[in-house]
Amino acid sequence: MEDDWSQAEPFRIKVVEPIRRISRAEREQKLREAGYNTFLLRSEDVYIDLLTDSGTAAMSDWQWAGIMQGDEAYAGSRSFYHLQEAVADLFGFSLVIPTHQGRAAENILFTVMVKPGQFVINNMHFDTTKAHVQHKNGIAVDLPVPEALVPTDQSPFKGNMDLDRLDEFIRTHGRDRIAMIMATVTNNSAGGQPVSLANLRGIRKIADRYGLPFFIDACRVAENAYFIKKREPGYQDKSIRQIIREMMDTADGITMSGKKDALMNIGGFLALRDGELYRQATVWAVLFEGFPTYGGLAGRDLEAMARGLYEAADEGYLAYRVGQVAYLGQRLKEAGVPIIEPPGGHGVYIDARRFLPHIPRDQFPAWALTGELYLEAGIRTVEVGTVLAGRDPATGENVYPELDMVRLAIPRRVYTDRHMDVVADAAARVLARREEVRGVRFTYEPPLLRHFTARFEPV
Ligand SMILES: Cc1ncc(COP(=O)(O)O)c(C=O)c1O
Repeated sequence: MEDDWSQAEPFRIKVVEPIRRISRAEREQKLREAGYNTFLLRSEDVYIDLLTDSGTAAMSDWQWAGIMQGDEAYAGSRSFYHLQEAVADLFGFSLVIPTHQGRAAENILFTVMVKPGQFVINNMHFDTTKAHVQHKNGIAVDLPVPEALVPTDQSPFKGNMDLDRLDEFIRTHGRDRIAMIMATVTNNSAGGQPVSLANLRGIRKIADRYGLPFFIDACRVAENAYFIKKREPGYQDKSIRQIIREMMDTADGITMSGKKDALMNIGGFLALRDGELYRQATVWAVLFEGFPTYGGLAGRDLEAMARGLYEAADEGYLAYRVGQVAYLGQRLKEAGVPIIEPPGGHGVYIDARRFLPHIPRDQFPAWALTGELYLEAGIRTVEVGTVLAGRDPATGENVYPELDMVRLAIPRRVYTDRHMDVVADAAARVLARREEVRGVRFTYEPPLLRHFTARFEPV
């Protein structure tokens, strides 16, 4: 018990932001006004906000002190060098280009690396990553292991890439058609599931066999490293920092959204080893983001990001962090709520088709459930299902993904386990009265990225 850091939060709370819960009648009105779309709610009308874990972390006193100590020089600021030192120390990459957030690092990298018609292969692209590949007229290919799509499969590394399919894909299309291989850790689109070190090494081996570059989308690298320590044979006695370093050693570079495992509200970076690639990237960095030592950020952001990287790599913090997600997963499971198992690193995903089996797919069961959780207890969640998947451009028909899910993403260091109890109890109450829950239909459907601004009504 002495070393069980997941017993309680490993911090004292010294600043608080009051939250309020409006009445059920008010929530009904707010949801109606928002067109039954949780993106269109105001955050002040939300009691527990599980919309995203991105940019929602609580910074520490050490990070806030860094905000005061940031050096605001346009070029060559002290804070930039602190970030560069942190990235070299923790990740082993000596070349760093800050960006205003993760997708901006992707934009720079793909501008340099992706030629029209080339493939980028990933375990699973995050949606902005896929969009950036397509923006460069590249083709984004996902090669997850099959168990990634089986909700009750208990495999420890459901975020892995399918190495046989990777090798076969490269042989079929030829290495010249491949711009790069990428691995997203953890695999957000598959529920925040981790990738094993064996899998990263396997990807590196295949990349070397064909002379291809390999990059990591590293925004949840610390959470992934914690899962490796807990689940992968041979890593129990290694420190999180050793594991992070071994993960990074497999790659030629990383894109990083600092809004996740750098515990920032904004920020990101591209980190590289190769000097020539770095020189090419800086050209685009200036155009898209700003001078390569500030990259669209203030010196204070660079300072706080350098500190956040260290804090996220702390094992006590990670035990609490991943433990809180697991706690919510456990509470939901005990209540009979069908979830994607085992829970990932940054949130719990409810399997909405099993939760609401009476709602047909074209009435968007996961979307309906997001509205119901808000009505029940002021909890904001997000659909990762048919509405998000959009329509097939060729046929105009809805694309029906393998799973219709509701994501409960947990902000870092923000809510206590008492809040998690409120969430689990609310989901259990909705489950008990699930026959009453109705599907939804569009009253307004935007042509692209429809989930952000669409409006609905109950069927
Ligand atoms: C796996 C993954 N990659 C990239 C990004 C993009 O990062 P950002 O939102 O900082 O642009 C995200 C953001 O959620 C993500 O989850």
